[in-house]
Amino acid sequence: MIDYREKYRPQFHFSPPSKWMNDPNGMVYFDGEYHLFYQHHPDGTTWGPMHWGHAISKDLIHWEHRGIALKPDRNGVIFSGSAVVDRDDTSGLFSGKPGLVAIFTHADNDPETNRSRQRQSLAYSLDKGRTWTMYEGNPVLCNEQIPDFRDPKVFWHEAKQRWVMVLAAGDRVQFYASANLKEWSFESEFGAAEGSHDGVWECPDLIELPVDDRVDRTKWVLIVSIGDHPQFKEGSRTQYFVGDFDGSAFVNDAAPDTILWLDHGRDNYAGVTWSDVHGEDNGKLFIGWMSNWKYANLTPTVSWRSAMTLPRVLRLKSGSSGIRLTQMPVSELSRLRGQTQSWSETAIRPGGNMLEDASGDRFEIECEIDMGAAREVGLKLRKSEREETVVCYDAAEGTLSVDRRNSGEHDFHEAFACKHGASCVLDGGRLKLRLFVDNSSIEVFANGGEVVLTNLIFPDLSSTGLELYAIGGDAKLVSLTLHPLNSIYSAVGV
Ligand code: FRU
Repeated sequence: MIDYREKYRPQFHFSPPSKWMNDPNGMVYFDGEYHLFYQHHPDGTTWGPMHWGHAISKDLIHWEHRGIALKPDRNGVIFSGSAVVDRDDTSGLFSGKPGLVAIFTHADNDPETNRSRQRQSLAYSLDKGRTWTMYEGNPVLCNEQIPDFRDPKVFWHEAKQRWVMVLAAGDRVQFYASANLKEWSFESEFGAAEGSHDGVWECPDLIELPVDDRVDRTKWVLIVSIGDHPQFKEGSRTQYFVGDFDGSAFVNDAAPDTILWLDHGRDNYAGVTWSDVHGEDNGKLFIGWMSNWKYANLTPTVSWRSAMTLPRVLRLKSGSSGIRLTQMPVSELSRLRGQTQSWSETAIRPGGNMLEDASGDRFEIECEIDMGAAREVGLKLRKSEREETVVCYDAAEGTLSVDRRNSGEHDFHEAFACKHGASCVLDGGRLKLRLFVDNSSIEVFANGGEVVLTNLIFPDLSSTGLELYAIGGDAKLVSLTLHPLNSIYSAVGV
């Protein structure tokens, strides 16, 4: 029996029914269904021999758990990867019909040398993802000289009419091309001297997005996660590059030493986008693993471990410093809203708290604040006498921060209790926030998703207080709405 009531169990985020989960894998949309696979250790609540767990959704919010899709076989355990719709049966696996192909990393040790190796393999499904067969020609892409050679993300390149794979290869990514998903040829590589190298490169993605929602202008975004390194307190993080891709090679728009972070919080890792989404959201739907390798194996949950971020829509926005990625949660989430409360046009005075009579354990807040004469303005969430998680804006520094030092349980790892932030430029002196709080997370989207902070928190169930505060002078609340969010498990009685 799945324990949806367990303390810290997210009520509107995806989490595995039981045991360990890490990266999202194989995300693909096919025949009205969103598929989400994930790195899964079904026999433990810490990382172990990897399988792909599987769930299906029609709205990206409510998920039907489908158990294990891929399990270790003679080629090794199943690391991260992607899935595509092979619409024209280029692989010849589907008797001329469309079908699903998963492309992932098989990890094992070479029986002769005992050296660890990572090789790319295929599995396919003839029944809309319900069951999977390993391709008998596995593995399909090997390079045993490179020990970290993994996490293939495959997509159909329209202009060149062929498949492209982007793969993490140590301190860089490599691009391969194929006509049939089975035979791959090396095209180029990128990144050995670009961006952040604070950890090994993992889980790349490459997507083409409209700039400023214009139909006539696109750019390519290369997303690269970088692993934890003991030297860096931030742990594992995700960066991105904006540039051009001609089907063979990626060219970065920015100087090689520019580093762009996808999320300024600590808990959004290994995220990639859904494949084969049609219409307006094509290439834009993203989900990440809401944890950090620094402490992922130690978080204080019991029967399961880890959740995904909210599914998000990616966009590109041009500004004075270049073209940047923005992210906002998918609109389907608004269906979970309960009885909304609103506040508006009021002064936020030092010492006051207009949210004193409000409370919430899982909710969404939308607010717009004019900083006025305040030095700092903030929201305290999941608050009690002993606990609070603080989202605050420092006017002098121009930074938006999350402070989880007193957010709840934190002694499972010394790096967890921290305050961290990012520069956030206000539009006309106004801070616009949208934030989502669940039983063990807080996601902050500022200025329409230009600055995002995703963080785990482990507050007590009784910490439900709210506070809106100002320091150093009056600020003005333009508007604030508080939406309690219903549990996605309400149909099963939570
Ligand atoms: C990223 C990662 C991937 C790998 C997987 C193994 O979190 O290290 O590079 O495929 O996890 O579970």
